[in-house]
Amino acid sequence: MTKRLLIRTWGCQMNVYDSERMAEVLAPLGFGPTETPEDADMVILNTCHIREKAAEKLFSELGRLRLVKEARRQGGQEMVLAVAGCVAQAEGAEIAARAPYVDIVMGPQTIHRLPEMVARASRAGGLVLDTDFPEESKFDHLPEARAQQGVTAFLTVQEGCDKFCSFCVVPYTRGAETSRPAAAVLAEARRLVEAGAREITLLGQNVNAYHGEGVGGLAGLVRALAEIPDLARIRYTTSHPRDMGDDLIAAHRDIPQLMPMLHLPVQSGSDRVLAAMNRGHTAADYLRLVDRLRAARPDLALTSDFIVGHPGETDADHAATMALVREVGFAGAYSFKYSARPGTPAARAPQQVAGDVGDARLAELQSLLAEQQRGFNAARVGQEFDVLVTGPGRHPGQIAGRSPWLQAVHAEGPQGLEGSIIRMRAVSATANSLTCVLKDRSTPLQEQHAA
Ligand code: 5AD
Ligand code: SF4
Repeated sequence: MTKRLLIRTWGCQMNVYDSERMAEVLAPLGFGPTETPEDADMVILNTCHIREKAAEKLFSELGRLRLVKEARRQGGQEMVLAVAGCVAQAEGAEIAARAPYVDIVMGPQTIHRLPEMVARASRAGGLVLDTDFPEESKFDHLPEARAQQGVTAFLTVQEGCDKFCSFCVVPYTRGAETSRPAAAVLAEARRLVEAGAREITLLGQNVNAYHGEGVGGLAGLVRALAEIPDLARIRYTTSHPRDMGDDLIAAHRDIPQLMPMLHLPVQSGSDRVLAAMNRGHTAADYLRLVDRLRAARPDLALTSDFIVGHPGETDADHAATMALVREVGFAGAYSFKYSARPGTPAARAPQQVAGDVGDARLAELQSLLAEQQRGFNAARVGQEFDVLVTGPGRHPGQIAGRSPWLQAVHAEGPQGLEGSIIRMRAVSATANSLTCVLKDRSTPLQEQHAA
């Protein structure tokens, strides 16, 4: 008998990856996907703890699911309710106390034990709590086959972080930095490519700190991946400026499969704030790095994360961030108002910034970043570049794809090109996407057919 599984995912791409792996470990137990909680024999909430009122959002979602669970029980059906991810890791005990109807609480490092947890939950009842950082790696215990496969895929190569930025929970929720051996990564990449992937994004909280056995660093891993025939595009995220070594910069120069786009969070443009954040680099270090990267790969586009209102941030510090943004010119960025995370050093700092001050700084920064993003997209208009076709477009006769700079592309074109890389020219741009024409087809296809 098949059972229905609903997974809700918040937060970063690592969580997306983990959710896909959870679906796969549960498939042999007969679980298939559903979108509706009322039908679900099991619901997993894969949570994110990085910002905002993560726990409050979780508890209100749990409150709703509790009602569904009770209604199902009255109809003679069970629902196994699981909380996974970083909120589970950080606040497992509180979840158990406040939501005793939850069956499973598990951290990001124990997803391979999920089948056993499900068995224990349905056999014994009561809470199954597994927020260990186990000796064995989850990667050694996850199934090899991927459930579904598209043209683009994520591949986690590294987890955890040893940087301890003042504001960040990651070193506590995802634990110490660990890297998967290169052989395991390469084997997974080959399987993804055999199943149709043309573009792989390597994931890690601190991906350029990768030091997996066998290749000596991320640059070596990228070089090894570039040997896989049919793997047309390689990306990696998220990187730390301190780990951006010479060999990785050289890889951007030498390896055409490495896409000309780099997410390199700087967080702030003020040296005072960067020091308070424990980032280990200055604004000038970052600017020098950007120059070296652009010298290696002139068409490289940069994106970043920013935090405004970190404890102690003054108007002058904020002005320094605005100046850095103007100097670099970002193709896009995520920006956030600082939110105190329990257990982190910044949350204990005396000079917290007032909420409305943070709001104003965020609005000012976001408007500049949005203008830069629009400018970056508009600058593609008239240019020619390769587009990876990912599938049919929203309208009949349209195809959808991805530019080298991760922009969504729409074009008129024949169906069945999924997975092909097609030369196109951009004819117009919006804040989030490009409209393109296939090269040598400057008029839309229907008109060509009509002619
Ligand atoms: N408050 C606001 N933003 C945060 N980030 C991480 N922790 C916090 C926090 N406490 C942001 C950083 C990071 C991104 C993933 O989330 O900019 O790069
Ligand atoms: Fe968090 Fe800093 Fe590590 Fe990034 S580098 S995960 S912001 S501690």
